[in-house]
Amino acid sequence: MENTRQLVRGAGLWGSDLMVFDSLPSTNAWALEHAGELKHGDVVRAIRQSTGRGRFDRTWVSPGKCCLTLSAVLKSGAQDTSGDALLLPVAAIALRNALKEFGLTAMLKWPNDVLVAGKKIAGILAESVTANSMLVLGIGLNVNITAPALSGMTFEQPPTSMAVERARLFDVDLVCRRLLIDLEKAIEFTQQNGPASVAARWKENDCLIGRTIAVKGQQDTVTGRYDGMQADGQLALVDAAGKRRLFWSGDVTVMLNGEC
Ligand code: BTN
Repeated sequence: MENTRQLVRGAGLWGSDLMVFDSLPSTNAWALEHAGELKHGDVVRAIRQSTGRGRFDRTWVSPGKCCLTLSAVLKSGAQDTSGDALLLPVAAIALRNALKEFGLTAMLKWPNDVLVAGKKIAGILAESVTANSMLVLGIGLNVNITAPALSGMTFEQPPTSMAVERARLFDVDLVCRRLLIDLEKAIEFTQQNGPASVAARWKENDCLIGRTIAVKGQQDTVTGRYDGMQADGQLALVDAAGKRRLFWSGDVTVMLNGEC
């Protein structure tokens, strides 16, 4: 169900617009459905999102007004973000930087997880429309969701929120503004410094360094020693036979040397 929409001109990325809906099933779904009407840099935010989606057809739960759920529109040609594969890490770096402003130290887990104290605080989902050469970068950040509310939910990995980690509530509008500033900066930094700069910045807070991991791809699961995120965004691991393997996508589980 779609309802009231507030248009905040100039509050999106690079002076584009921010649309704030009271409620949407999914900001990514709405942006993809309205691809033709949206401009590069427009941001679609929902105060309540009822059926948010995550990677691998998972659902993204963000009840009530607790959380930040938004989708940023990036139109190719107008914007070179050095390839779609790098957008997830670039957005994760922006989230890490924004969280730092609010006193939280985040770690990054390839390809799209932002963790605080080993628990997932944010997720990113990039989806594209080829006909409109548009990429929708969906971001979900747990801002004020409480520990009891989190404990009643089932996730593929333990969740947390800014409020749980800092024992205080946050102004979600302020968090949104900060995140959009950091997202803009992170994309511009990548354009100016090239794709290799993403891997370098990722490494500063890469929670998989030194770990033995399992990467579950579409065909099979491969176990090995994590060997870093590459300049093109791929994950590298060295398997039991000493062979270096590269992955564009997959689900990562830490097998040895502790959790993230
Ligand atoms: C994941 O961790 O699997 C990705 C979660 C992405 C959730 C965000 S919330 C805003 C945007 N709209 C959606 O339906 N999903 C993304």
